[in-house]
Amino acid sequence: MPLSLTQTCSSGTLLMLLVSNLLLWEKVASAPMNVSEAGLSKVSLKDLFDNATALAENITELATEMRLEFFHDKFSSEIFNKIILDLSKKNKMAELVNSCHTLPIKTPDTTEEVRNTTIEGFLKLTLSILHAWKDPLKHLVAELSAMPEAPHVILSKAKAIEAQHKIFLEEIVRIVSKVNPAIKETEDPPVWSDLESLRAADEEIRFFALYLFSYCLRLDLRIVEFYVNILKCIFINGDICYVF
Ligand SMILES: *[C@@H]1O[C@H](CO)[C@@H](O)[C@H](O)[C@H]1NC(C)=O
Ligand SMILES: *[C@@H]1O[C@H](CO)[C@@H](O)[C@H](O)[C@H]1NC(C)=O
Ligand SMILES: *[C@@H]1O[C@H](CO)[C@@H](O)[C@H](O)[C@H]1NC(C)=O
Ligand SMILES: *[C@@H]1O[C@H](CO)[C@@H](O)[C@H](O)[C@H]1NC(C)=O
Repeated sequence: MPLSLTQTCSSGTLLMLLVSNLLLWEKVASAPMNVSEAGLSKVSLKDLFDNATALAENITELATEMRLEFFHDKFSSEIFNKIILDLSKKNKMAELVNSCHTLPIKTPDTTEEVRNTTIEGFLKLTLSILHAWKDPLKHLVAELSAMPEAPHVILSKAKAIEAQHKIFLEEIVRIVSKVNPAIKETEDPPVWSDLESLRAADEEIRFFALYLFSYCLRLDLRIVEFYVNILKCIFINGDICYVF
């Protein structure tokens, strides 16, 4: 259930979402669902959501592990710890989220916006965010592979995340095609433009790009995990969404 997110919450956006949970449950549970009942087998939709939530949890965990490895492995630990220290000294931790390439994807921030987000809206957001990470993940694996000093433990996490991301995205696409095939990702997928930085000869630029990448990836995956749990709750559990 989405509540597990409270333990790992650090973004204002996500916090806002969590604060708004109760209101959201009330709204969505009472709202009529625009789902074509004919094409919707409840059993298989439940199976799809069971898989999707398991995949969401798994990939978020992998992203967390990769970020922790960056902090602990001698490859990056010194510079990552320096970055975090600098950011907190300058009180810039909270602003980091504004540097994520998925920023243009308009996620609900305020209570009212969350209340106004429909099932279709959450699916569209999930699709858009996941899609926006497809190319960056491919590049991350390629660039880490090209860094001779990058440790196997980090590279293998990156590869696992890329592989799991593909499976996860496919599962979401299957859900979308069942719920409402008209749902599409955002018209203008956000552009990730950190490839130059990932390749930079300057160590500080390169590692900051890795820092930002691992930060934003983990944050977005947690948001997606939250959305998938909301959706599962709405579709599968119905009234239980009130009492967590
Ligand atoms: C349900 O969604 C479809 C496709 O998005 C739309 O054409 C239709 O008008 C919606 N129906 C209701 C009752 O909102
Ligand atoms: C769920 O995942 C299992 C194992 O990964 C797979 O065999 C099954 O087909 C999936 N089910 C659905 C409905 O996606
Ligand atoms: C939420 O929906 C209501 C009614 O449709 C609308 O008046 C309001 O402007 C919307 N608020 C936001 C923040 O989108
Ligand atoms: C979770 O990720 C690992 C690592 O890639 C993978 O081997 C495993 O099958 C995944 N589990 C699920 C439930 O998808």
